[in-house]
Amino acid sequence: MSTQGDKQDRIIIFDTSLRDGEQAPGFGMSTSQKIRLAHALAALKVDVMEAGFPAASPGDFEAVKTIASEVKGPTIAALARCNGGDLAAAARALEGAANRRIHTFIATSPIHREFKLKMNRDQVIEAAVKGVKTAKLLCNDVEFSAEDAFRTEPEYLIEVFSAVIEAGATTINVPDTVGYATPQEIKALFARLRREIKGVDKVVLSAHCHDDLGMAVANSLAAVEAGARQVECTINGVGERAGNAALEEVVMAVRTRQEKYRLHCGVEATRLYGTSRLFASLTGQAVPRNKAVVGENAFAHESGIHQHGMLAKRETYEIMLPEDVGFPRSNLVLGKHSGRHALRERLKRIGFTPEEAEMDRIFSAFKRLADRKQEVYDSDLEALALGHDPEAQRPWTLNGLQIHSATGVDAVPIASVALEHEDGHTVREAAVGDGPVDAAFCAIARVVGISGSVVDYQVRSVSAGTDAQGQADVRVKANGESFHGRGVSTDIIEASALAYLDAMNRAARRFARVDAEETVEDEAEAVDARDNVSAVA
Ligand code: KIV
Ligand code: ZN
Repeated sequence: MSTQGDKQDRIIIFDTSLRDGEQAPGFGMSTSQKIRLAHALAALKVDVMEAGFPAASPGDFEAVKTIASEVKGPTIAALARCNGGDLAAAARALEGAANRRIHTFIATSPIHREFKLKMNRDQVIEAAVKGVKTAKLLCNDVEFSAEDAFRTEPEYLIEVFSAVIEAGATTINVPDTVGYATPQEIKALFARLRREIKGVDKVVLSAHCHDDLGMAVANSLAAVEAGARQVECTINGVGERAGNAALEEVVMAVRTRQEKYRLHCGVEATRLYGTSRLFASLTGQAVPRNKAVVGENAFAHESGIHQHGMLAKRETYEIMLPEDVGFPRSNLVLGKHSGRHALRERLKRIGFTPEEAEMDRIFSAFKRLADRKQEVYDSDLEALALGHDPEAQRPWTLNGLQIHSATGVDAVPIASVALEHEDGHTVREAAVGDGPVDAAFCAIARVVGISGSVVDYQVRSVSAGTDAQGQADVRVKANGESFHGRGVSTDIIEASALAYLDAMNRAARRFARVDAEETVEDEAEAVDARDNVSAVA
């Protein structure tokens, strides 16, 4: 049980990688990928994990529901607008969680009120209070966010926050939704909110800063200096547009500058690197080399002067230890004599904690790979652990691939594929192409029946040596949406075909969901209509 003193010294880390992060273009994840990340966030010991926005789609609903019932440790939060349909969906999705939170929001700034909501000040307050009261009936832990709070008239913002605290909100979140603020302004705003909101001592004040001007972390820390005790952030700083405050940077700033902030947080910092890499692998978006705390260069010293300084005394150029954030000291890991225990330990360091059945699969794949390769690197293990995303194989699985490769003026590369559908039937197709990879993509596209253009295609070796595994990443555009796929194999044409199929499977699942989503929207409208009827009555 935390005391009031504890509350003042502790900073609550609210991770929203699965919601604000996943909303960002190019960072969409399948349900099984979300669950994997959720387990890693629990192992990282974030305090609150926003698992998604259940009313947004049946897929989001399912993901939040599964995370709520499977993932232990953090409080699981779900986002909802201030309306009956959204709040009911959030509450239903959260039912299985030991600790749950409904996070409800409405925009408060003049521009959002006038152009988006078409509501006046009084109507927005009324909707906010009604939303919080409804949420409170469904869940004791209620967070309220005033979207675009930073651009809201301060006296009105104070009125809104005072009213929702009276209605039962327990956390008050102050988003800088468009990343417009500077640290000094954020500090002044939080200081004022602490002075003027009625009942502020009963709640936790929270900062949610976007990075449009590159100030999200600085702004979050400024809010903390002025009394915020929850920071909303994401792994690698991923989020809408330029992203949110990066979790790893906030955590390490508070730890490294302990003498300044005098606060502690419960995050297991040695898991930061592994979780960052896991998120990057799941989404197919690499971490920039120069990214603070977790980028490949974060602890690399290139210039002679720096290397000399480091050898003389590490602190000349290093303010954190690589091992504090779980940075692997050496990338060289295991060989064919390594056992299951060593493999499990190494996987843990790079962010994977597989269940027994999954561990069996990875261990057999590791043994097969170690037979073919002298040395198995972290990157090989990462590829092995990620190689089996059950959803990458749904609805279509690649059961056979034959390539006839040829060079010369009259050469015609041909690929034939056999794809099995999850309902059990198999379709075989052949196609010619500019090269063997193009031919394989054409054959797969024929079977799946979606026409998508490849907008990005990359193959790289995941480790060293000519026996290395190849990892292919493909981005496909279909119906105006972009889908990423990844495949790994020691045969780069097979890796490419698997990556393309992964992307096409995502497209197939997405388009199959559209009908279902329309049904949910109709239901939500019906619930709102009922709410309005009963409010009028
Ligand atoms: O940026 C924002 O305003 C949000 C809210 C929904 C909290 O993400
Ligand atoms: Zn946001």
